[in-house]
Amino acid sequence: MSTTFTLDTATSRANPTPAPMKRLTVPAVQRRKVDGRTADPLVMLTAYTARQAQLLDPHCDMLLVGDSLGQVIYGLPSTLAVTLDMMIAHGAAVVRGSYHSLVIVDMPFGSYEASPSKAFASASRIMAETGAAAVKLEGGVAMAETIAFLSQRGIPVMAHVGLTPQAVNALGGYGARGKSREEHEKIVSDAKAVADAGAFAMVIEGVMEEIAVAVTDGVPVPVIGIGASAHCDGQVLVTEDMLGMFERVPRFVKRFENIAEIIGRTAERYAADVRSRSFPTEEQVYRPKK
Ligand code: KIV
Repeated sequence: MSTTFTLDTATSRANPTPAPMKRLTVPAVQRRKVDGRTADPLVMLTAYTARQAQLLDPHCDMLLVGDSLGQVIYGLPSTLAVTLDMMIAHGAAVVRGSYHSLVIVDMPFGSYEASPSKAFASASRIMAETGAAAVKLEGGVAMAETIAFLSQRGIPVMAHVGLTPQAVNALGGYGARGKSREEHEKIVSDAKAVADAGAFAMVIEGVMEEIAVAVTDGVPVPVIGIGASAHCDGQVLVTEDMLGMFERVPRFVKRFENIAEIIGRTAERYAADVRSRSFPTEEQVYRPKK
């Protein structure tokens, strides 16, 4: 699938004029999986800011405002301290910066697990205050009731199974899941439970490949992989990982660029120009008109 959206940054830095086009909807994403197969894989990346969304939007089907922003933007050690207000601020920015992709906002740890009604209160704030079309939450069988509650009340839910980073303390780390037969079966039944509960799609993260294949073939909704399998209905990566912003590269990440090096080299050139007083030049200073 190709898009024709082009940026017009001439008008304003913050609000480029969008080419008229319709944003992808939840049913349109669901319809991409036909008879258990997605011929045209779904493209999802994380986005946390308006400008990042503007740049990614023409190339993606879905933008995920992931709670990974805790580590990526705020330098936190995990996603556990991310708040609803943080997710809402970044979610609104990403919606403002995009015109084409379906925007999904992660529900942060503590905002949904206690009860379906607590989840509804948090999710409805996300939807109303960001303009996003869906929320994502982590968990399988244990979250099925909540997913059904939200979905039946007009809140589309993307589920997240396999390695669920908000459960890092219970899991004991971020290692791949599903090495034992028991865990394999648990992840497959989690995926079936969230699909049966009404999740419109799910992320499957950090699992043995055969589990990702079994889940993709076993549920009727799109399965988006990260550290999973090319067989999934789509893929997601943290944008900063894919761009090469960090030195640590987990096994499942493909670095498509080395942006960290570009930023470092550019800052070095800027610093040298400032120190040698060769910036600013005539071109960058204001003088009264003669
Ligand atoms: O928070 C996030 O960025 C995510 C993706 C890694 C799927 O949940």
